[in-house]
Amino acid sequence: ETKMAPPQHIAIIMDGNGRWAKQRGLPRTAGHAAGAESFRRIANYCREIGVKYLTVYAFSTENWKRSADEVAGIMRLLRKYLEEALMDMEKNRVCFRFFGDLSKLSPELQKLCRDAEKRSEDYDVQVNFCLNYGGRDEIAAAARSFAADVAAGIHKPEDLTEELFSGYLYSKNVPDPELIIRPSGEK
Ligand code: FPP
Repeated sequence: ETKMAPPQHIAIIMDGNGRWAKQRGLPRTAGHAAGAESFRRIANYCREIGVKYLTVYAFSTENWKRSADEVAGIMRLLRKYLEEALMDMEKNRVCFRFFGDLSKLSPELQKLCRDAEKRSEDYDVQVNFCLNYGGRDEIAAAARSFAADVAAGIHKPEDLTEELFSGYLYSKNVPDPELIIRPSGEK
């Protein structure tokens, strides 16, 4: 029996929380709470099997359209998760990066994100949290940064290649995921 190497990078689009809760007659927020708990187990498991990067799509730019109650519930879970992760960081040897426009998050949550990013010198797994993340939003942000570098004389427009552009994305320095999981079962 050959032992396969684990993927270097696994990404999870955390959907299906609402449906999971509905099937059990629970409020949607209970589904999000269960999702956050599952994610904690997954992150620890990934460390055990040697996965280096774990990305979770936790909040999209579209998710602000959910009810104020649901958004508040998700933000509360994120805060709790990060507070606990900060306490256990040395033990868990997990470091954090955040992909998305954090400026729309509460100042409190922004500070937790910054603190979590700071304390990550020596780690086994890098968890990338996509928060207020949208693919188009990321492209626009990258294009703005590239345009600024052109204006500053650092690059010429014709310098832009796929490779150079990827250096302006949130995911710079992270290999592409080999496996993308949608827990809802949607493709
Ligand atoms: C989508 O599932 C999930 C969300 C919009 C929020 C997920 C975020 C958290 C649980 C916060 C904490 C996160 C982590 C990783 C610690 P959905 O409710 O749209 O499910 P549905 O498609 O069944 O409605």
